[in-house]
Amino acid sequence: SKSDCLKGKRALVTAGGTQEPLDPVRYLGNRSSGRMGYAVAQALQEAGAETILVSAPTDLPTPHGVSRVSVQTALEMYDAVLANFPNMDVIVKAAAVADYRPASQSEQKIKKDGTNRMIELVPNPDILAELGRRKTSQVLIGFAAETENLLANAQEKMHRKNVNLLVANDVTKPGAGFGSPTNIVSFLFPDGRRIDFPKMSKLEVARNLVGEIANLLGDCNKG
Ligand code: PMT
Repeated sequence: SKSDCLKGKRALVTAGGTQEPLDPVRYLGNRSSGRMGYAVAQALQEAGAETILVSAPTDLPTPHGVSRVSVQTALEMYDAVLANFPNMDVIVKAAAVADYRPASQSEQKIKKDGTNRMIELVPNPDILAELGRRKTSQVLIGFAAETENLLANAQEKMHRKNVNLLVANDVTKPGAGFGSPTNIVSFLFPDGRRIDFPKMSKLEVARNLVGEIANLLGDCNKG
């Protein structure tokens, strides 16, 4: 049946926004709540997959039956994901990963002195692109959070990061993107196929995604 068609499969999902420390009390972050990734982990678990959730800090409870690995920074997420990657059948990268981190971290709280301040940033590794290079038989799913030229930017990411399916969301639309309980997404496939969805709950988006993952794995009874 459809309800357990990922039985025996191992899945890893990333969720939330990484935090890049500046000093012991401050960090650079983003607006991800983790809701989208947590919904994907729940839907994969409900479909029978053994599911690991690599999570940046969030306020959300771990979905029932899912194993959670908590991380803070992009580098910690990179290590946790790469360590598990060879054993996974499915990877879904819903996390909002910081593209840059502060070049150095102050050991003590930075004091104010009334002058302007510069923060030097260095690039973080692109976790999804690295998985795309190492991919053997895994089904690799990426997200694209865009504020303009949604489909063109998403298509470019799909090809550059070598994913099997890309979930594109325009994070400026009301009811979509960061923090909201709902999302408005398109699924893009490397063969040019595209599915546009209306606004729906993140759990419904996640269940539609799991349906496509089952098709991509190819060993699930349809209908
Ligand atoms: O968490 P919510 O509040 O529910 O919000 C959901 C969401 C908007 C965060 C989610 O739907 C979403 O779009 N997630 C991806 C956010 C993002 O960072 O997108 P991006 O277009 O910057 O990155 C593209 C892809 O590369 C993503 O799969 C991302 O995880 C991955 N990436 C990016 C940078 C990096 N250094 N490493 C990565 O793996």
